[in-house]
Amino acid sequence: MKQPVRVAVTGAAGQICYSLLFRVANGEMFGKDQPVILQLLEITPALKVLEAVAMELNDCAFPLLHGIVPTDNAEVAFKDADYGLLVGAKPRGPGMERSDLLKDNGKIFSSLGKIIDKVASKNIKIVVVGNPANTNAYILSKNAPSINPRNITALTRLDHNRGLHQLAEKAGSKVADIKKFIIWGNHSTTQVPDITHALVNGKAAPSVVNDQAWTRDTFMPTVAKRGAAVIAARGASSAASAANAVVDHMHDWVLGTADGDWTSMAVASDGSYGIEKGLIYSYPVTCKNGEWTIITDLATDDFIVGKMKESEKELQEERDTCKELM
Ligand code: NAD
Ligand code: LMR
Repeated sequence: MKQPVRVAVTGAAGQICYSLLFRVANGEMFGKDQPVILQLLEITPALKVLEAVAMELNDCAFPLLHGIVPTDNAEVAFKDADYGLLVGAKPRGPGMERSDLLKDNGKIFSSLGKIIDKVASKNIKIVVVGNPANTNAYILSKNAPSINPRNITALTRLDHNRGLHQLAEKAGSKVADIKKFIIWGNHSTTQVPDITHALVNGKAAPSVVNDQAWTRDTFMPTVAKRGAAVIAARGASSAASAANAVVDHMHDWVLGTADGDWTSMAVASDGSYGIEKGLIYSYPVTCKNGEWTIITDLATDDFIVGKMKESEKELQEERDTCKELM
């Protein structure tokens, strides 16, 4: 049996974590041979609910769960943490854009960055989920200079999974038949769901779909606005599907992407595709041995490039509105 890894999770008494924590403790994120210690952070008024979550986790008798540390002290939660699942933040309500949350949520990530810099493992791998996820990850990274920026990512896997389902339905195929779909850019309505390189049962998706109007006018906006559609239907933002995407994101990062496929992760741009270096931008990536690699040199047409630039511009604007946090 491996040594347990320490997994710090913020917002642990919230909606997403009510699904996420049980799956991590059950071995779905890091593998069925990897014990975990969950270090759970909440704000003080939520500690009682957090206690109940810890009770339920214990009542599952998960063999891989080697300990739970519930706390309202971020230094305790991130002490020696090997992984950070940064969920704790305000969700948006109907009629809001995710960037409207920046004023409130940005502060959370600047202060967590400083604490992570001080107490976490220097190899900590982080996924930021709290919105606006890309810019929060950027703020965090700027406040944690001793952590390699490659280890600070944001979640666009939910958008990726949403796209897989929509495309499979249109193509009359199964989700598992689809490979090489891409989400470029920001986890926002400017994201670019791109089927140009996707394969459906090994065949080029654009020719299988054979409907450019559907791709541009139905598919892309449906995926990009799915978060708002769930809020309108549920009265609260997506939770179980978000948790599932966090599991997928970390699983693939740590244990590797499937052969012959890639996934979408928002990572520190290295300038690929002309995107400003350092922005946390969603790219197609493969993962091996715990490292992600951007798929470079894909041919992109002018329509997609224009959309990618719009999303870059939005990330630059979000960054510029919160310079005081960096
Ligand atoms: P929620 O309100 O149910 O839970 C958030 C929890 O965070 C609450 O329990 C709250 O007490 C806690 N919290 C607030 N400030 C904190 C802090 N400083 N430290 C620790 N905990 C803190 O919300 P939720 O539905 O779980 O969503 C959480 C975040 O995830 C929101 O910002 C939401 O918009 C975002 N989200 C992102 C994606 C994505 O794909 N990137 C998907 C879904 C939701
Ligand atoms: C989502 O995509 O479901 C989340 O980012 C929540 C939201 O505000 O849309």
